[in-house]
Amino acid sequence: MSLSGTTTRYGRLAQAFHWLTALLVLIAFLVSAGGPPERVYSAARASTLLLHESLGFTVFCLLVVRLIWRRFDRIPDAPAMPSWMEVASKATHWALYALLFAVPATAMVGALFGGHPVTVYGLGAIGPFSGSWGAPLAEIHGTLGDVMMWIAGLHAAAAIFHHFFLRDRVLSQMLPGLPDPSSRQGG
Ligand code: HEM
Ligand code: HEM
Repeated sequence: MSLSGTTTRYGRLAQAFHWLTALLVLIAFLVSAGGPPERVYSAARASTLLLHESLGFTVFCLLVVRLIWRRFDRIPDAPAMPSWMEVASKATHWALYALLFAVPATAMVGALFGGHPVTVYGLGAIGPFSGSWGAPLAEIHGTLGDVMMWIAGLHAAAAIFHHFFLRDRVLSQMLPGLPDPSSRQGG
């Protein structure tokens, strides 16, 4: 399989971006902390906050490179399905892309303009910048993070439904090594 996709499969690079992003988002979510700033920015939570911000920042960078690559890549055609399902699937994908942008962006802008430096990879801190309007954005960040996990969960459930019940190639075109169930039906 080449780096680029075909009419029936995502390419190696698009698959790598997808699964790496899903893994990093999941870990960032699991180590996230809410509550009052004294808790979020406490010394006891400094290392998990560093991990959370570094993972989230990596997700953001991956999104930028991934979307540039997508312009040059061949995205597989949707297998035969009702048009409402195809529209719902495209809408979900673009909602997830929007959230992959909005979740880290609201966090970074919210922290920087809410009086908190942002630390990534332990390389030192950026900011904070002057302004005090960041706190509501930080709250929106937490809510959007939850929304992203719900949509990603439904998206994953839909992919599994396609594979086992509709028996089309939706999951196999993104998952390396998984055979296309529709090519094994044989009438
Ligand atoms: C895909 C990436 C990310 C996901 C899924 C995510 C998810 C979350 C969630 C769900 C919360 C709220 C936790 C709760 O209320 O229990 C949260 C809080 C937080 N996140 Fe993220 N986050 C991501 C990226 C980032 C990035 C890039 C930063 C860097 C600035 C960041 C900084 C924070 C901070 C500072 C809080 C605490 C907010 C507050 O209540 O003041 N996050 N995150
Ligand atoms: C945080 C987690 C996830 C995010 C943010 C995410 C995001 C995305 C996005 C944006 C696309 C569109 C790709 C494109 O056409 O450019 C996509 C496709 C896909 N994702 Fe996910 N995904 C996540 C988790 C999962 C999981 C857990 C599964 C499977 C169990 C999965 C299965 C798929 C499949 C099969 C496709 C291709 C769908 C199609 O071609 O119609 N994803 N995902």
